[in-house]
Amino acid sequence: MAEDLHISTGTKTEQYEQLMPQLKGLLEGEPDLVANMANITAALKEQFGWLWVGFYLVKKDELVLGPFQGPIACTRIKKGRGVCGTSWANATTLIVPDVEKFPGHIACSSLSRSEIVVPIIRNNVVVGVLDVDSEALDQFDETDQQYLEAVVNLLNMDEVA
Ligand code: SME
Repeated sequence: MAEDLHISTGTKTEQYEQLMPQLKGLLEGEPDLVANMANITAALKEQFGWLWVGFYLVKKDELVLGPFQGPIACTRIKKGRGVCGTSWANATTLIVPDVEKFPGHIACSSLSRSEIVVPIIRNNVVVGVLDVDSEALDQFDETDQQYLEAVVNLLNMDEVA
């Protein structure tokens, strides 16, 4: 496993293209879900400098906070609540250019201005979400959606799926 992340510059696509093989390398041969989620959040935060990057896992009828990087966050989110709970309920990625315009947005940090939430789906069931927050408005688009969906697909979710 590489010990240092190579931080790349360039377009967003170029940054993801450099990051993806490194993420694959980080996860290779490591079956532990928490360890892999933890390293993914660290790598994404180091590369992109986002405010908050983290996972929530479905436990019974709630999302429960998992590995993350950034300020402390809400620990439990009900299905259908906030951006995360809505992404879970709809089983779709949600891109929110301005969190203040998303009805029911849960402000874990008052600094968050835009957000993307990607559901982790296994056997047609949402088992968790990846949530990314930025301090700037309108920071996420289809490129982030495409790559972050690929990132969550790197995870072996057998421990929880
Ligand atoms: N803003 C999210 C809550 C999670 S925090 O941003 C880390 C939401 O509305 O679901």
